[in-house]
Amino acid sequence: MLGLMDDPDPQTGKQKPILRAYSIASPAWDDELEFYSIKVQDGPLTSKLQYIQEGDQIILRPKPVGTLVHDALLPGKRIWFFATGTGIAPFASLLRDPQTFTDYDEVIITHTCRELNELEYGRCLIEEIRQSELLEELIGENFHSQLKYYPTTTREKSNKVGRITDLIKSGEAFANLGTAPINAENDRAMICGNLAFNLELKAMLEAFELKEGANSHPRQYVVEKAFLD
Ligand code: A2P
Repeated sequence: MLGLMDDPDPQTGKQKPILRAYSIASPAWDDELEFYSIKVQDGPLTSKLQYIQEGDQIILRPKPVGTLVHDALLPGKRIWFFATGTGIAPFASLLRDPQTFTDYDEVIITHTCRELNELEYGRCLIEEIRQSELLEELIGENFHSQLKYYPTTTREKSNKVGRITDLIKSGEAFANLGTAPINAENDRAMICGNLAFNLELKAMLEAFELKEGANSHPRQYVVEKAFLD
């Protein structure tokens, strides 16, 4: 939970915390915490958060919670990270975690946004990862061929137009990626996006016979619960 104190109440002078659930986008080994947020011009939090300066105070609840963790999945050969919009944040963390590349032979990140400019954070992230000396040192040259990035837009022209759900249903995503369709034996998946997307993709993975896992009972896929509430 991340937030700021609200402006003082004009009558009482009291301030309340405004807190929202955010995913930590930086990798577990990093000294810095990185967050990725939309900016809502009249939103209670982000209308202010977007203007914070070095030295300003923020509120950060000390105990992180979440379902998108490697321990909630059984060992597999390939991992899919399915994101829409700012839902790429938890994968920005996991994609910079060497464990992702030691646990799986193939790592596929799909990112669907309305417009091209929303893909920019992910595009820069993938570029940074491809040039990562840390990953090259720990995983070896091989990690370059392990990583596949599949960005798509839905309301603006780009190299690939369409919702990832539709592109999977039609088989186009597998054809474009040059990879076999999803199967429960080899594939593991994590989902993080808007509510409708999370639910639709969850149903699709269930149709591929993948089952939802948890830390206490690792299985084939997990969904970010913060967005499902
Ligand atoms: P679309 O433009 O067709 O609605 P949002 O900004 O509303 O959170 O949406 C982010 C992206 O997720 C958009 O590209 C949107 O496509 C897509 N999206 C929304 N709902 C679904 C869904 N049920 N399945 C797949 N993609 C979805």
